Amino acid sequence: MSIRRISVRSSAGTYTVVCGAGALSTAGKMIAALGRFTSTHVLSSPRVWRAVGKKTMRGLGTALRPRLHFFDDAEASKNLRTVEEVARSLTRAGADRRSLLVAVGGGVVGDVAGFVAASYLRGVALVHVPTTLVAQTDSSIGGKTGVNIPEGKNLIGAFYPAKLVLTDPLMLRTLPPREFRGGMAEVIKYGIIADTRLFAFLERNLEKALARDPEILSHLIMSCVEIKATVVSKDERESGLREILNFGHTFGHALESVTRYSRYQHGEAVAWGMMAAALLGHEIGLTPAEDACRIVALVRRLGALPPWPSVSPAKLIATMRSDKKSRGGNLRFVLSPKIGKAITQDDVPIPTLKSVLHFAPRLRGCCAATHD
Ligand code: GLY
Repeated sequence: MSIRRISVRSSAGTYTVVCGAGALSTAGKMIAALGRFTSTHVLSSPRVWRAVGKKTMRGLGTALRPRLHFFDDAEASKNLRTVEEVARSLTRAGADRRSLLVAVGGGVVGDVAGFVAASYLRGVALVHVPTTLVAQTDSSIGGKTGVNIPEGKNLIGAFYPAKLVLTDPLMLRTLPPREFRGGMAEVIKYGIIADTRLFAFLERNLEKALARDPEILSHLIMSCVEIKATVVSKDERESGLREILNFGHTFGHALESVTRYSRYQHGEAVAWGMMAAALLGHEIGLTPAEDACRIVALVRRLGALPPWPSVSPAKLIATMRSDKKSRGGNLRFVLSPKIGKAITQDDVPIPTLKSVLHFAPRLRGCCAATHD
């Protein structure tokens, strides 16, 4: 298995994602190549650190002598209070403008660390060591950082890319199954929006991927990182192309919101959302029936999802309109004209959307699996 270096362009310069089994063992050398830092500070959560702390310390090497800072990485802790606590902890540990912050964890750790790095002393260098499938394939790349406020998720944030991302699939061995499966939903998303060969590979290998076969996983993660790197290099600020990464998310965010973020792991809501987006695409005459069926069939192989909520289509539509990504209440969907391609669609007829939402709870049991 190889390690690849994938470049990402950003307004702050180009950075590298080192990707592959063993990437973490290059940490000391890769960080040294970034320059000299007055001190190194690792931000993680006690839960993550129990699982990967030793491995991470070995990868960083003894020369950096990092100081450790922890916070509980539950979504409920992704707030400004945590940002303040981390900043105070950094100050107490003597972090200055030329210190390095290393985020070791999943999306919550990465988002908080990114925002702290963007704002502490108006910006310190950041390295991501993502430890979940979603963080490895998505949130560690592209510079989005942020925290929640009671009015909504990620409403306070900044674009602040890392100087380096170390993506090591070996870190995923201890990831809880639901989190892993949620990440795999986002992997399927990449196939749908950008890579028909990746989608077909998943059709052949999904069960092996879910069993965390190292070769399969490495290949999948590298493919997703390549896609994400290409997309955000072309459109860092989400003024166009980057929106395709939100396939399944208009529905998914609404499902999460109406269930108060307590029913679904994010990827599970996206899994439902992708099936609904396939159906919506088909209903407006964009997605061919065969492609819609293949999407639904593959997503279903992820396994049982928490059920669709018993709320009316009207309530779900109202929730979608209040999403921060909707522009002035206009609904925008990402839909697929064929597997491997995605476009944004603003003018979806509401009666069609309503009938898709009526039907969506049954998507769990409609299409026969088309593989093998
Ligand atoms: N996760 C979507 C994005 O990075 O734009």
